[in-house]
Amino acid sequence: MSRTVPVTDSIPFMDLKAQYARLKPEIDAAIARVLAHGQFILGPEVKELESKLAERAGAAHCIGVANGTDALTIALMAEGVGSGDAVFVPSFTFTATAEAVLILGAAPVFCDVDPKTCNLDPVDLARRIEAVRAAGRLRPRAIIAVDLFGFPADYAALEALAGKHALFVLADAAQSFGARSGNKRAGALAPVTTTSFFPAKPLGCYGDGGALLTDDPARAALYRSMRAHGTGGAKYDIVRLGFNSRLDTLQAAILLAKLPALDGEIAARARLADRYDRLLAGAVETPPRQPDTASAWAQYTIQTKRRDHVAATLKAQGIPTAIYYPKPMHLQPAYESYGEGPGSLAISEALACRVLSLPFHADMDEATALRVAGAVRAAVADG
Ligand SMILES: Cc1ncc(COP(=O)(O)O)c(C=O)c1O
Repeated sequence: MSRTVPVTDSIPFMDLKAQYARLKPEIDAAIARVLAHGQFILGPEVKELESKLAERAGAAHCIGVANGTDALTIALMAEGVGSGDAVFVPSFTFTATAEAVLILGAAPVFCDVDPKTCNLDPVDLARRIEAVRAAGRLRPRAIIAVDLFGFPADYAALEALAGKHALFVLADAAQSFGARSGNKRAGALAPVTTTSFFPAKPLGCYGDGGALLTDDPARAALYRSMRAHGTGGAKYDIVRLGFNSRLDTLQAAILLAKLPALDGEIAARARLADRYDRLLAGAVETPPRQPDTASAWAQYTIQTKRRDHVAATLKAQGIPTAIYYPKPMHLQPAYESYGEGPGSLAISEALACRVLSLPFHADMDEATALRVAGAVRAAVADG
């Protein structure tokens, strides 16, 4: 029976409950199997998931870890990144990208991003690499590229710069598992890729989880050792510094149950993104598109000068929004001593005042999309 929906009914920003309802038999059965076999740490589901994710991404190896932040830290630590090293990171990202650098005692060098894709701007990056070299205080070591909102960074340009300056490129694909650029998928766009299975990510578990992907067998062996306390051939043989950072068997089982639905969910979000684009055309700046590039559509993020007004207006109507991210990393108190202060990264600073992510998930219906887009258009136009 249909009912009239009052315009003040609140709607979810993303709908993990609807996803669970859709996949309940598979997820419940996967959890029950783990409870029955009892191998909670590095059980068979972890290995099965690693091999399926590697195959899907087109990488030779996948190593499951406890979360995406540990994956970044392990990837950098395995390269020997540490004190005196400069790691180039976008300022407009989630804190984990810079945090992993600082945990190892290295220095993040914050770079600006492209105003449309919100990903590392190779021109600004090139300038900052030259500046670090000229200053001579830090050794340029690595670039971390972030595929923000699911949209792949410009890896061809980044690899060219990395080649010129002998830098290691690490892809932070926390938001982009399932994305594609040319004939390669996220996971195979850089020598090493990390991802996150945080519940809100394109492939999310029911807790924390993450993974590293690479074609390099030596790196893969290092990551396996480092996720388990730096063990060698035998369990109590400790050959290097490591972490307690294994992916839980239960989370691996949940991810295995969700994996077959991933492509369909990304396709549904891509259709919703196209729908939002048409409904919002001319009112706000809509997310980027590039030929032969497919986003994983982690978020649908618009840009508008009236961002705070739009967010408040939608909130009053029961429509949640999110701001990723309200403050770029170079202005965060924890990191500001590594940056050059306000005005030094103009695009990142402007984006922090303009971006607004709208309710967006694979199970959203047409009426809800119309309601959200209509509310955005009205809010932009009023006053
Ligand atoms: C760009 C980016 N990098 C890294 C991470 C860290 O992932 P996790 O929360 O699994 O540690 C996230 C998670 O939000 C992220 O968005």
